[in-house]
Amino acid sequence: MTGAQDWRGRVGETWAAEYRRTERAFSAIAQALDLTVAQHAPDKGRAVDIGCGAGSTAIALARARPDMTVTGIDLSVPLLSVAQSRADGIPRLQFVAGDARELLPSMAPLDLLVSRHGVMFFDDPVAGFADMARAARGGAPLVFSCFRSRIENDWSGAVDRVLGQAAPADGHAPGPYALADRERTYRILHDAGWHRIAATPHDVRYVVGEGDDAVEDALAFYRRIGSAAAILAAVDGGERRRLEDALRDMLAARICGGAIAFTAAIWIWTATAAGERMA
Ligand SMILES: C[S@@+](CC[C@H](N)C(=O)[O-])C[C@H]1O[C@@H](n2cnc3c(N)ncnc32)[C@H](O)[C@@H]1O
Repeated sequence: MTGAQDWRGRVGETWAAEYRRTERAFSAIAQALDLTVAQHAPDKGRAVDIGCGAGSTAIALARARPDMTVTGIDLSVPLLSVAQSRADGIPRLQFVAGDARELLPSMAPLDLLVSRHGVMFFDDPVAGFADMARAARGGAPLVFSCFRSRIENDWSGAVDRVLGQAAPADGHAPGPYALADRERTYRILHDAGWHRIAATPHDVRYVVGEGDDAVEDALAFYRRIGSAAAILAAVDGGERRRLEDALRDMLAARICGGAIAFTAAIWIWTATAAGERMA
């Protein structure tokens, strides 16, 4: 489980320090999501990027829709500092620290709500998505990405196997796989008041290492991000060396064209707020 406290604290700090590696891993997710956002986004009005992290989705949206006002919201102050530094000079783009559920009411009415993997961390997902629906203008689109099941995501599954971890059943606790179950997520969105709900599966490239020493680059990623980081942090000495050597062997066997890449299995969800969109 990864909750709000984790993102406000250590997990947010780690993602801020590692944002170049997480950006690289998420870049194909971004391509798929940004394309879907482009199909649904109005030309102007107010948009929010929920759980914007280092800001990529908000920045891409602000560049693509210069007449929109875009606000990125995130719990993590260090991540927002990274976002701000990357966005310097882009007009009509701002970043706000805080919990989306608390901030959204003051931002209504919104013409577009987007999120790249930032909406899987609500303690009460129906209430979280209902807050978004209430903040949306009639007919406004919601577009977000999230992971499908852990078993379909070999960027984490292949590593879990090397580390001797059986893939845990995908619980519904806040975390990367909280919205993996299509039927359940459909019900959450429906119960939260969203309409015209649809999910499209995408399998995209997820690069974990590249460069002169792609294996060490990938190992640096896994030491800090995801469930592997927690497993490695819990052991030391000989056991830690044994696990890291096993990981190195697996990662080395996957180098192709100078990069180590896995598959990320994601959903891209779209939905519409009740009411008609203004012309
Ligand atoms: C997996 S990261 C994704 C970050 C970014 N969207 C990206 O694609 O790189 C999830 C982000 O959601 C943020 N987050 C989680 N719950 C949130 C909430 N209730 N309000 C605002 N941000 C939240 C976290 O702080 C974190 O930055």
